[in-house]
Amino acid sequence: MKISDWTLDDSRARGCKRWGVYPQSTIDLTVAEMDFPVAEPILAAVRDAVGRQAFGYPIPDADSALPEICSRWLAGQGVNVPSRQVRLVSDIIKGLTNAIRYFTAPATPVAVITPTYSRFLDAITAAERLIYQVPMTRMSDHYELDLDALENAFKNGAGSLILCNPVNPTGHVFTRQELAAISGIAERYRVRVFADEVHAPVRYDRTFIPYSSVDTQAAQHSITFTSASKAWNIPGLRCAFIAFTNEADNRTWELIPRAAKGGISPLGMVATEAALTEGGPWLTEAIDVLRDNRDALTDALAQSGLGHIVIPPDATYLAWLDMREFDLADAARYLRDVASVATTPGGEHGAVGSGFVRVNFATPRAVLLEALDRMTTALLKRTTRGGAVSGYEVA
Ligand SMILES: Cc1ncc(COP(=O)(O)O)c(C=O)c1O
Repeated sequence: MKISDWTLDDSRARGCKRWGVYPQSTIDLTVAEMDFPVAEPILAAVRDAVGRQAFGYPIPDADSALPEICSRWLAGQGVNVPSRQVRLVSDIIKGLTNAIRYFTAPATPVAVITPTYSRFLDAITAAERLIYQVPMTRMSDHYELDLDALENAFKNGAGSLILCNPVNPTGHVFTRQELAAISGIAERYRVRVFADEVHAPVRYDRTFIPYSSVDTQAAQHSITFTSASKAWNIPGLRCAFIAFTNEADNRTWELIPRAAKGGISPLGMVATEAALTEGGPWLTEAIDVLRDNRDALTDALAQSGLGHIVIPPDATYLAWLDMREFDLADAARYLRDVASVATTPGGEHGAVGSGFVRVNFATPRAVLLEALDRMTTALLKRTTRGGAVSGYEVA
C-alpha cells in the first residue's frame, strides 16, 4: 500500500493509543506515531513470526544475529561499534533508566537539554535522581544551546547528560560544533553522555552527526540509544538497541540484574531486522511524505500570518509551536476546547516549553490541513485580527 493511500480509519482500526483517547470529533496530534502503513518487509517478517508462533523468550544477544545487523546499520549512520558491543533492550527508556542507575555515581543529578522528550524527565525521576534542566533558547529561526548553563549543571554535581539528537520536540539537529563543545565540557567534568538518536533516520535537509563520532573522547564517555520504533512506526513491538562505544560499559551492562533488562519481544526483533535490512525504500517514501507535510504545515501557518510561530524542523515528524503571543494560560487546552485539536502541552517537555505546544504532523495531508485550519482560526481569535473567545481569559 502506498503511504498516501492510508486513511484515518486505518489508523483507528489499529486500536492503539494514537487514536484511542479522544472523541472522534477531535483531531489528535499528540502521540508520536505515524498514520502510515507499516513497511511491507516488516509486515512480512512479523506475519512469518506469527505463523511460526515465535512467542517464546527472545534469543540472548550473544546467540542472536540481530546485534551484527544493528552494528552494520549503525556504521551506515556513522556510529562505529562492534556487534558484541551492541545490546538489545525492550525500549529506550528502560535502557536510559539503567544507564542512569548503573553508569553514574549514586545520587548524582542528571542534566537534560530542554525542551525534550517528556519520558526522559520520568526516567530520571524513576532512577530517583534530581533533574537539572539546561534550556535551549528559541531565536527567530533556530534554537540556541547555552553552554554556560550546561557547564553550570556539571559544576553543580550533575554526573551525566541526556542528549536527544535530533531533538523531540523541536526537530533541532545538533551541529558538529555544538556536539564538539558538549564533548569538551563533558570530558572536562568527567561526566557521562547518554545520546538518544532514535529520530535520526527521519531527517530532511541537514546532515546528522552521531555524538559518538565527534571525537574519541565522546565515543568513550557516551552510550548511544536507538531503535527502529520511531522511524518505522513499530514502538509497540518492544525492541531497541544500545551501542556501547566504550568496551568497559558493555561489561558493566553484563552485570546489571536481568530483571532490569528484560521485556524484549521476538516479534520486535524480527521487525527490527526487517526494518534495518529492507526498510530503506519505505523510509525514503515516508520522508518524502513527511517533508511535504512539514512544508504544508509551515505554508498553512504563513498564509494565516502565523508563520513565525514555527521553526521548520530539520528532522522528526514533530513541530514545536510558539503560543506565547496568544496570552493563553494553557494553549493545548484552548486548542482542544475551541479547535477540537489535541496537541501536547509544551510544559511536559521541560519548564522552558511552557507556552508552546507540540504537534505530530505524520498524518494524512487532508487531516493535517483540517487541523491547521481549525487551529489557525482559533488562534486568530486571540489576536487583534479576531475577537476574544468567551470563557477564555487572558492569562
Ligand atoms: C527521543 C525519543 N526517545 C525515545 C522514545 C521512545 O522510545 P521507546 O518506546 O523505545 O522507549 C521516543 C518516543 O517518542 C522519543 O521521541
